[in-house]
Amino acid sequence: MSIIEATGICKTYQRGREDVCALRGVNLTIEAGEFVTIVGPSGAGKTALLNILGCLDTPSCGTLAIDGVPVTGKGEAELVKIRREHIGFVFQQFFLIPTLTVGENVGLPLIFSGSPYDRQKIESLLEKVGLSHRAEHFPGQLSGGEMQRVAIARALVNNPRILLADEPTGNLDSITADGIYRLFEELHRQGITVIVVTHNRELAQRAGRVITIRDGLVNGGC
Ligand SMILES: Nc1ncnc2c1ncn2[C@@H]1O[C@H](COP(=O)(O)OP(=O)(O)O)[C@@H](O)[C@H]1O
Ligand SMILES: [Mg+2]
Repeated sequence: MSIIEATGICKTYQRGREDVCALRGVNLTIEAGEFVTIVGPSGAGKTALLNILGCLDTPSCGTLAIDGVPVTGKGEAELVKIRREHIGFVFQQFFLIPTLTVGENVGLPLIFSGSPYDRQKIESLLEKVGLSHRAEHFPGQLSGGEMQRVAIARALVNNPRILLADEPTGNLDSITADGIYRLFEELHRQGITVIVVTHNRELAQRAGRVITIRDGLVNGGC
């Protein structure tokens, strides 16, 4: 069974009185444990697609199943549950809370999901991303690469099987970006399904499969 199965996904946004068609019938199947990158020009629909795959947004038409469970048509409460149980999300802007320590930022989703505040879990995640020594620091004291590592640790705290990242290295220099990709490769080796949107073709080629999206269609159309 595929971990993600998207069929005929469309997304239309309203811009004033105009309809903007961001996705025009995307079919995409991703197997558990794959490392996939999504590339394409600006405005192609990459973010629209990732947000739908991650249940942050709903499609205008088409169907999505996560781990064999149909997602389409579910209400926000159910989508929150699916996100919590299956999906970790990483963004270009790290979205850390500046008044919380690194450790507290990583643990925040545990509070939102009503899970026990597992300090050992937080410590082991910080170790995994190479930031054990930064647990008591604040985001403002970190470099961009370190902030993104914190965001990745936070995305993993609920043990998701799927990690989605939208231009995660867009604000980082190439050496730092390389380190973040190494971390994705490591997570992939540990069995997590990793899906990364990037502008950078060279980084994209490091994945097992590169998907190109153009004008709202995958690989030129399907
Ligand atoms: N909230 C929105 N309202 C109106 N149009 C949008 C909205 N979000 C995205 N779009 C449009 O949808 C298309 C795809 O956008 P997006 O998925 O963000 O592209 P990408 O991430 O590939 O750069 C673009 O034409 C964009 O302008
Ligand atoms: Mg985008």
